[in-house]
Amino acid sequence: MITRMSWELSVFGKNLCEGSGISDLMDDLGEALAGPGDVMMLGGGQPANLPEMEAIWRRRMEEIMSEPRQLEKMLGHYDVPAGNEAFRVSLASLFQREFGWNLTHENIAVTMGGQTAFFFLFNALAGLFPSGDQGKILLPILPEYIGYADQSVGCDFFEAIPAQIQKIEQHEFKYLIDFDALELNRNHVAICVSRPTNPSGNVLTDAEIERLRAIAKRNKIPLIIDNAYGAPFPNIIFSEVTPVWDEEMILTLSLSKIGLPGTRTGIVVASKEVCRQISSMTSIVGLTNSNIGQEIMTPLIESGEVLTLSKKVVRPFYEERSKLAQSWFHQEFPDDLPYRIHRSEGALFLWIWFEGLPISTKELYQRLKKRGVLIVPGEYFFFGLPKEIDWPHVRECIRVSYTMDPQVVREGIKIIAQEVVSCYRESLAC
Ligand SMILES: Cc1ncc(COP(=O)(O)O)c(C=O)c1O
Repeated sequence: MITRMSWELSVFGKNLCEGSGISDLMDDLGEALAGPGDVMMLGGGQPANLPEMEAIWRRRMEEIMSEPRQLEKMLGHYDVPAGNEAFRVSLASLFQREFGWNLTHENIAVTMGGQTAFFFLFNALAGLFPSGDQGKILLPILPEYIGYADQSVGCDFFEAIPAQIQKIEQHEFKYLIDFDALELNRNHVAICVSRPTNPSGNVLTDAEIERLRAIAKRNKIPLIIDNAYGAPFPNIIFSEVTPVWDEEMILTLSLSKIGLPGTRTGIVVASKEVCRQISSMTSIVGLTNSNIGQEIMTPLIESGEVLTLSKKVVRPFYEERSKLAQSWFHQEFPDDLPYRIHRSEGALFLWIWFEGLPISTKELYQRLKKRGVLIVPGEYFFFGLPKEIDWPHVRECIRVSYTMDPQVVREGIKIIAQEVVSCYRESLAC
């Protein structure tokens, strides 16, 4: 009989091998999508399967297969670690045409998904320095994307500022950056925000971005903007804002939310030096990237078709679904229940705040799971806060995805409402 040895894990191993919020979330998502279909999956970041987009992917695969040697090249070649040159040239000219940015393909590096781009960027910029200093990433508005939380291979490197809450009428709210609390020190090595924000669907205004840009510039550190849901693609952004970039910023995009998460393609737009660093990390960690998403997308970017699809198919679909899901919340929740939905300005989720919820949303998650509904408890999105801050808001929010079949979303929301109402009632009965 073979007995299993167990090895002690390094700091890197401990940080990455022992699970995290994002691993639980991805396990839930994968199991729900692979299972018999009886789970109401309102949890993960899975984009919707849009028939118009699926037809485009099919058409592109047929074109690739009918073109001599194209399929063989896509499957059989290692490309350069910075990303396919034609893909990067097409992106650079799209950004020049659309936004007037001054850049070339050398300002673009491809990664194995946006998630990997953040792993590289955060660990290269922050953490332990040879001087003994510990570099920190400043998150100027919390809650922020769960997927950043456990990416450090060494010491914790996030410091976050709780959002200011603006209550709007009876059942809505919006987060704003608390600029008065935004004090930088010499340990801060970058400022990072997702726009639109996962989980809240908040979109930082142009004025907020300009202020962050000025603060970053003054402190000679990069402003990182995670544009996984933003313009020009997938364009899941319902408010009119201007995308900005210059060499002092780092912008990331992804092919996932337009419908190609399985191709694992992330895009970093940055100075040439940062792009060379990303390329170096790609070659060390994985040699190179997957070719498939880049090959599918290049002609769509060159022709501008990706813009039309994003504007005419992708954005309207999610905007409509967001409105529907909000109307179902309002129908299912009693008007006197203290629930508020974050103003839905983009991304795939509704972010619901139950002020004074008698149990934590981690407990609510367990209760809903027993009833076949998966959501994401809000606690995971509040990281990087000083230990002495006890902010009840952390335990009072949930993230609900509205990308699944409308009947599933509707039924899920009904069950969420029943369960939340019971929680408040049980606490009154005590
Ligand atoms: C804000 C944000 N950034 C980055 C990612 C990473 O996406 P991917 O690695 O699929 O490009 C996600 C995924 O959900 C996200 O929500």
